[in-house]
Amino acid sequence: WAVYAPYVRAINALKKERNAVILGHNYMTPEIFHGVSDFVGDSLQLAIKAGEVEADVIVQAGVHFMAETSKILSPEKTVLMPDMGAGCSLAESITAEGVEEMRAKYPGAPVVSYVNTTAEVKAASDICCTSSNAVQIVNAMESDTVIMTPDQYLAQNVANESHKNVVFWPGSCIVHEQYTPQDLRDFRQWNPDVRLIAHPECPPNVVAEADFSGSTSGILKYVHEEKPKQAMLITECSMASNIADELPEVDFIGPCNMCPYMKKITLEKILYVLHTMEGQVEVDVQVADKARQSVQAMIDLSR
Ligand code: 13P
Ligand code: SF4
Repeated sequence: WAVYAPYVRAINALKKERNAVILGHNYMTPEIFHGVSDFVGDSLQLAIKAGEVEADVIVQAGVHFMAETSKILSPEKTVLMPDMGAGCSLAESITAEGVEEMRAKYPGAPVVSYVNTTAEVKAASDICCTSSNAVQIVNAMESDTVIMTPDQYLAQNVANESHKNVVFWPGSCIVHEQYTPQDLRDFRQWNPDVRLIAHPECPPNVVAEADFSGSTSGILKYVHEEKPKQAMLITECSMASNIADELPEVDFIGPCNMCPYMKKITLEKILYVLHTMEGQVEVDVQVADKARQSVQAMIDLSR
């Protein structure tokens, strides 16, 4: 912590000067998550907060699609991205043309797009979803067939829990697609008491081997409530690091996978954008207006 302290102090002072808030995703490293974030959460919680928070500036401690979502919901605020290269393999896997391709293939079916998409894809969709509300959103669609983009695994996991015919785009998350069912069986054999807790971006045969599956906040809530003796979080590494100190009775065991995009965000870069006001995220006004309808429709249905 000694190396981080000067950054944490400087960032917290600059936040006051700029009337800024930092929205930190659950995958941020502990010094960002605990040291400088004003609000932490999963993608849905951060999107809701972006629309409600009173500030002139939002610093998005997360990836680019999250910053775009904040700008879409708070166009009057300055949204700063500490590193414009912090992308997402899911957001990069589909364009608005891809959405139109799916509509042509399944005429009349509504398009539910994961928030892990660009503003253009959100604008081309009917509604968004996150991992915490995907089943609820898909079930709320009137049509029997529902198109989900771009995460094939989230879509298949939702299909297993809903009564809809879910058709999907073949995108995937480079962090969660790496886990295999054999990995989970091996982890359990080596640690018979372990609770395996997986994010729904994992393939369905991996989720089937887990004891619980949920969004990043769902996972944190589960561990806080259940306090298992041993837990393995089948998701990004920072999740366990962020709560290990608060839950000394839980033994968090590895391995885990790191998201190279999330890890591009550092205290140094946060301080830099707050100081220079560089890294401002802009979304075309017409695209933002359409994308806002998809995001707002999701927020309204999730309340
Ligand atoms: P959550 O909505 O569960 O936080 O997921 C976001 C994400 O990018 C997970 O990989
Ligand atoms: Fe995208 Fe996966 Fe990284 Fe989340 S963990 S930001 S889905 S690449």
